[in-house]
Amino acid sequence: MTTPTDFQHIPVLLAPVLDLLAETPGTRFVDATLGGGGHSQALLARRPDIRLLGLDRDPAAIAAATERLRPFGDRLTAVQATFSSLEQVVHDHGWSQIDALLMDIGVSSPQLDLPERGFSFRFDGPLDMRMDPSHGPTAADLLNTLPERELADILYRYGEERRSRQVAAEIVRRRRERPWARTGELAELLERVVGRAHQHGLPPATRCFQALRIAVNDELGELERTLRQAVRLVAVGGRIAVITFHSLEDRIVKQFFREQAASCTCPPGLPVCVCGKVSTLRILTPKPLTASEQELQDNPRAACAKLRAATVIQNP
Ligand SMILES: C[S@@+](CC[C@H](N)C(=O)[O-])C[C@H]1O[C@@H](n2cnc3c(N)ncnc32)[C@H](O)[C@@H]1O
Repeated sequence: MTTPTDFQHIPVLLAPVLDLLAETPGTRFVDATLGGGGHSQALLARRPDIRLLGLDRDPAAIAAATERLRPFGDRLTAVQATFSSLEQVVHDHGWSQIDALLMDIGVSSPQLDLPERGFSFRFDGPLDMRMDPSHGPTAADLLNTLPERELADILYRYGEERRSRQVAAEIVRRRRERPWARTGELAELLERVVGRAHQHGLPPATRCFQALRIAVNDELGELERTLRQAVRLVAVGGRIAVITFHSLEDRIVKQFFREQAASCTCPPGLPVCVCGKVSTLRILTPKPLTASEQELQDNPRAACAKLRAATVIQNP
């Protein structure tokens, strides 16, 4: 079990996040992925006037962030919740709208580095992968119960694993002998079926582990549902900043921002607008911001991070 003091996570893209969010007018800030509280700590320090509501579905993150942010007293409220319940949590907190929203999605370093969380193929541990370990099916549950075709789809869609069908067939064949339980066993199978030389030098288990994690935590569904709430919830003039770590997530954010920034979508040539579409966002990052050379040297995990931000110009 982690204690709050061994929860070590270096916040990524901290300087651009601060540049984008610290200027936000208004004082109601939400960090929807509190993690170890690194981004929140910097925001609370930079803006002594703000109050911050922090969410995380992982109780270990809530405990660590609460401890780290204790010096800010009642300026911080930390709530264990999925970010797709954002609107509910914000309203329960007594706010009708918010002024800034940060989402730094994906997994934290302690989630990845602790074998007992079951996220990593680098250590043997239980095949768990739930960010909230008290809730929902584990990775083992999915491997032991899903139909072969559904498993193959998950591996292909969320992991872009080219050998998804072969892997799924092997998973199902093996579970008839004994149920899946350990990350080490799955890593072994992937090494055998996917092979070492495959896929740009990535360790063979990388893509399938990513795919399972996304499925276990419904990561893409969570992101889509939360973005839709964000445009209603963030007040006009407020800002939304989202950091993603792989292309599936980044594509969702990019398309959502574009869709919301677009005005009338009627075919050209119509004399008057019939679609009634209004733009709700102005994009602040035409291209996503990425880590500097210096940050990459200090924290190689920032390599895949992309930051996109927008300001709300009208609520839908
Ligand atoms: C990359 S870490 C955030 C690190 C944080 N910004 C910091 O500076 O320490 C991502 C966090 O988001 C949380 N998370 C991911 N998906 C979530 C969801 N759908 N709802 C709530 N929390 C989520 C994870 O549990 C994890 O703690």
